[in-house]
Amino acid sequence: VMYHHNFRPYYHYTPQANWMNDPNGMVYYDGKYHLFYQYYPYGTTWGPMHWAHTVSTDLFHWEDQGIKLYPDELGYIFSGSAVADLNNTAGFKTGNETPLVAIFTHHQNITGRQVQSLAYSNDKGATWTKYENNPVLDNPGIADFRDPKVIWHEASQKWIMVLAVFDHIRIYSSPNLKAWELESEFGKNVGYHGGVWECPDLFPLKDEQGTVKWVMLVSLGGNENSEPNGGSATQYFIGEFDGSSFVSENEEILWADYGIDNYAGVTWSNIPEIDGRRLFIGWMSNWAYANVVPESGWRSGMTVPREIKLKKRQDNSYVLHFSPVDELNTLVDPQKTIAPETPANQIHMDYHEIIAGGSYQVEMEIIPAEIDQFTISIGNELEDLTISYSKTDGEFTIDRSNSGYVSFNNLFMHEIHCDYQATGATLPLTLLVDQNSVELFINQGEKVMTTLFFPRYNYKFFRLDGNTQNEFVNSLTIKALKKSMI
Ligand code: FRU
Repeated sequence: VMYHHNFRPYYHYTPQANWMNDPNGMVYYDGKYHLFYQYYPYGTTWGPMHWAHTVSTDLFHWEDQGIKLYPDELGYIFSGSAVADLNNTAGFKTGNETPLVAIFTHHQNITGRQVQSLAYSNDKGATWTKYENNPVLDNPGIADFRDPKVIWHEASQKWIMVLAVFDHIRIYSSPNLKAWELESEFGKNVGYHGGVWECPDLFPLKDEQGTVKWVMLVSLGGNENSEPNGGSATQYFIGEFDGSSFVSENEEILWADYGIDNYAGVTWSNIPEIDGRRLFIGWMSNWAYANVVPESGWRSGMTVPREIKLKKRQDNSYVLHFSPVDELNTLVDPQKTIAPETPANQIHMDYHEIIAGGSYQVEMEIIPAEIDQFTISIGNELEDLTISYSKTDGEFTIDRSNSGYVSFNNLFMHEIHCDYQATGATLPLTLLVDQNSVELFINQGEKVMTTLFFPRYNYKFFRLDGNTQNEFVNSLTIKALKKSMI
């Protein structure tokens, strides 16, 4: 056996050194995806927050740009967003470039006071200046008052800010990013309330028939017993927004991810209309144990970037699908792709170099009519992580209790559950494995499970077994994914 010396993912964003949490300030400008994030440059646990910066042209190869916002007399730099101020509404423009404006929370460490502030860049995000009259939105006497996400609302020609305020979302509007007016509140009596609400997002999305709905994302910092699987999680609402208030049409509580390690995710702003995609990235960890996972020298990665799609269900209600962005295909090495013979009643890839490499994608199609229960397991002689599905129970279960290092936190040993009824003739599954994480996309992202694990020794096998002699595996392809990170 070989020790797994380094948990660093191949194709998920990780900081070169030290602590990272929430993605921040995601904006596309002039051919580049900008990603900022909550960063503590002096250690591998959470500390006084800075915004670190990285850029990419393809969402996988990232070039780190250093720290762009440092704590100051107003406090630490907490989470927030960034926009391209195309009409120079804030008046920050000095040259020929469109000003990029960051809207973030200043957090006073001693008093806990949280206010919203601005910083701007006139050189495509290379250098940033904090606005001299910060804050632009003062604290009304509420402890949890943070994580502004700002969008341009085309119909009313004004900026809209969604802000997390303890147990609800406040919606503000502004003509110029500097003066903000309260429009409405959302969420006091809807959605899940097993924790403080954080990191909201609000955006329109069009389905295949051309119907436009508004989507609100809300992360919540839960405890061990919170839905859906304990700790931090992100819920979403689908409904209507009239430029002033948001009304949810959810019939149930909906989650962006059921796999426990996807938090504080929001979407990129200023994606060109010709592209039209709504792109999401989340922090691939959970506050229950983020500070103690056994990574060393650095801590935390981001999820794989995902495209969000709006889908109408048979009962006319709407849901979101989250799928890996198409750019992932550019990491596929055609020389390192295998398709074991199918249909089959089991697939065992033991000691195969692609599996032993630890970073790969599996695309498979299950035939639900031929099977009641199947299990995907990845592991080595001593350790494994299992993903099982039971048609009778209508449920996926991930068990990582024997996956390697697990005892650093109780929640890490809990089973992770996701309700799912396999109703179609086939059940398509995509599994992304990347050294210390699995992301399972069920039926084209209708439900997602993102889960970390920390093997002591390199995993060597991928196995798919069922409780049947029938051929229940319609097709299966395994593709090695290339390293895109340092
Ligand atoms: C979410 C969060 C935000 C806050 C930031 C601080 O993970 O708690 O609400 O702005 O992290 O780092």
